Amino acid sequence: MIYILKDELAAQKLVATLADRVKTVAQVKNRVAIVEKEDVLTADERIDVIDTVVGHHGAIRVSRELHPENTVITTAHSHIGEGLTIMAGPDAIESEAHLREIGTAVRDLGATILRGGSYKPRTSPYSFQGVGEAGLAIHRKVADELNMDMMTEVLDTRDVALVGQYTDIFQVGARNMQNFALLKALGQQAKPVLLKRGMSATLDEYLFAAEYIAAFGNPNIILMERGIRGFDAKYTRNVFDVAAVPVLQSMTHLPVLVDSSHAAGKAKFVEPLALAGIAAGAQGYMVELHNEPAKALVDGDQALTTVQFAQLVQQAQAIYDIVAR
Ligand code: E4P
Ligand code: PEP
Repeated sequence: MIYILKDELAAQKLVATLADRVKTVAQVKNRVAIVEKEDVLTADERIDVIDTVVGHHGAIRVSRELHPENTVITTAHSHIGEGLTIMAGPDAIESEAHLREIGTAVRDLGATILRGGSYKPRTSPYSFQGVGEAGLAIHRKVADELNMDMMTEVLDTRDVALVGQYTDIFQVGARNMQNFALLKALGQQAKPVLLKRGMSATLDEYLFAAEYIAAFGNPNIILMERGIRGFDAKYTRNVFDVAAVPVLQSMTHLPVLVDSSHAAGKAKFVEPLALAGIAAGAQGYMVELHNEPAKALVDGDQALTTVQFAQLVQQAQAIYDIVAR
């Protein structure tokens, strides 16, 4: 339940009144949210309430109802949630020369965030698991050289402090969206967290996962639709839920971006899906590249070449300009 009060002072007063009685209560400006679904206010407490939002999805700190303005997350090189943010890079850090080659190409085409995994979440324990800390050091070095933000995935609570020494943005992958210990640990970090949608997560589950990070103290969260499990993985790896973009944006003030690489699973579908996401209102996109996709250590089938990426960037900006108008 969210109550809209006549002013901020009245909201502060109400929060103070409810503090002992209600388990969770939060305030942003003249809005007060409480976790309980029922209306718990007495007639006296209701005096300064000018509106009540019912049927709320339950997340508070990340909810649009509590915080109507879009959140913009500012890093050294990016304003995520303002304009069209481009995150690009290899799936996995393979070598310094490789990252520099891909990084330079994507930077020159407008990407401000250099992605790449040093710890890879793999289906099989026998698949390449990432190069580990050595990759973090390479990633930091190349991102600095190119004046880009570094973004990398953290898989384990035990790695949060180490990864945080290098990265600008933590990435939580689809497989860990409901790893609550990890979400709580990242809630205690100051750096932004890119939280991908789990592969079979409902939007309510997704928002609650984001709420964990916010509730534990870190409001700097970026959402990303990356495709959900469907029944026909023969043609695309996942079902790209384009509706998730506007629906999430109606539910939350957090930036919503798309990852069409993991949705498509095949390079030739990465561009149309990214464009569909931008047409639906996504505030940015993430894609993976490789200089020789056939030799990629992970996910070569979905890796774009720099030529394909250049074309995507052009089309994406054109679509974004139409939507933004
Ligand atoms: C890449 O980013 C993931 O680690 C990869 O998609 C995992 O999938 P797989 O291990 O099933 O290949
Ligand atoms: C990734 O972006 O490297 C990744 C593992 O993606 P996802 O978590 O969406 O599968």
